[in-house]
Amino acid sequence: MRFTLATSTVALAVLAAAAPQPAGIGMAIPITKRSSLVNADKSVNFDALKSHVAAVKAKIHRGFTNYEKNAGRKHPSDVGGVERRGAGDPLTDDQNELWYGSISVGTPAKSFTVDFDTGSSDLFLPGSGCNSSCSGHTIWDPSSSSTSQDLGKSFSLAYGDGSTVSGEQYTDIVSIAGFSAPTQTLGAADTYSSGFESSQFPADGLLGMAFQSISDYNASSVFQTLVSDGCVSDPVFSFKLSSSGAELYIGGSNSTLYTGGFTYAPVTQQGYWEVNMDNVKSNNKTILTNVDAIIDTGTTLIIGIPSDVSALYDALGGTAAPSDVGQGFYTFPCSSFPSISLTFGGKSFPIAASALNLGPVSSGSSDCVSGLAGLDIGS
Ligand SMILES: *[C@@H]1O[C@H](CO)[C@@H](O)[C@H](O)[C@H]1NC(C)=O
Ligand SMILES: *[C@@H]1O[C@H](CO)[C@@H](O)[C@H](O)[C@H]1NC(C)=O
Ligand SMILES: *[C@@H]1O[C@H](CO)[C@@H](O)[C@H](O)[C@H]1NC(C)=O
Ligand SMILES: *[C@@H]1O[C@H](CO)[C@@H](O)[C@H](O)[C@H]1NC(C)=O
Repeated sequence: MRFTLATSTVALAVLAAAAPQPAGIGMAIPITKRSSLVNADKSVNFDALKSHVAAVKAKIHRGFTNYEKNAGRKHPSDVGGVERRGAGDPLTDDQNELWYGSISVGTPAKSFTVDFDTGSSDLFLPGSGCNSSCSGHTIWDPSSSSTSQDLGKSFSLAYGDGSTVSGEQYTDIVSIAGFSAPTQTLGAADTYSSGFESSQFPADGLLGMAFQSISDYNASSVFQTLVSDGCVSDPVFSFKLSSSGAELYIGGSNSTLYTGGFTYAPVTQQGYWEVNMDNVKSNNKTILTNVDAIIDTGTTLIIGIPSDVSALYDALGGTAAPSDVGQGFYTFPCSSFPSISLTFGGKSFPIAASALNLGPVSSGSSDCVSGLAGLDIGS
């Protein structure tokens, strides 16, 4: 099966949960982008790219593992025989690319920043029992919230460097953009993996926005809870992802921020926001068809299985980056970088060369690296 992650950089406005509905009363919160895949001189940081790819792989495996545990069967896209983590992989986990904003938790309500991640389903914050791995973050102390309840269950999430975020599960009031879920399951971490330490990860915690079946807690995500509790009239959330004025809109979409109609791509498998991508084209030439895709605000690159990606670059004339620097990455002369388009729901969305081009291979190089990379998720 083909498997590709489409990502925040291609932000396609296909995140709507249900059929078109009249606009309800929604609320937006500002979100901020944090990015560090390039060096100060704008050349790409291959170590950061490789860490990001390792993080994506670990993330997919977490989702598959949780799906199998929750549903009692393998996720249909889990091709089997997968090694669950890159044991001995020298990479540190990367959470360098994220979109974060504020939520509040508990009684009295306390504010935290979280990374809004459509590629996972769990909410966790640094808990009061956390060691120095959480220092620098705002700490959630469930015992100081009169509405918190200990579920008596632990959680553990494996990240790309083999380390874990783990702790205890609670329920409490969680509010986002003015909407409140009174008994939301969330984790109080007593260990943060390196990628979540405050030097690397500016947000306090992470808020997953996908479906329950890939939740480590087997609990509904904050947004799904708001929908099932009837808190939002429209079961829709929308992201505007841009370097300024980015926002997450809960309960609809902000009509001042787009023109034209929406294109709908049905979710093919509830778990991730998994949809069918009709094709990938360049210069009107169809290069790939029928690609299984995940829309993930927590993945910055576009990542596909190596055979698809190599077929794409054969057609485009890309050059594979040396495997010791950037396995799975491809380059083009900066002066003739191609554009591609991705088709969802019958509509083609162009990705400009300037958006696909991550920057020069090294300082002053005339070769530039593409943001669409190959990753073997099955090993
Ligand atoms: C919609 O976007 C506009 C333009 O950024 C902004 O001024 C307005 O506050 C947004 N609406 C809501 C409800 O957030
Ligand atoms: C996970 O939750 C779903 C929905 O509530 C339930 O059907 C399923 O049995 C649960 N799985 C486990 C392993 O508890
Ligand atoms: C925090 O605790 C965990 C689990 O005991 C341990 O693996 C980790 O090294 C500790 N981190 C720090 C920074 O002390
Ligand atoms: C691609 O095809 C469309 C429709 O056939 C046409 O309008 C457009 O000019 C073509 N673009 C290129 C780059 O050839």
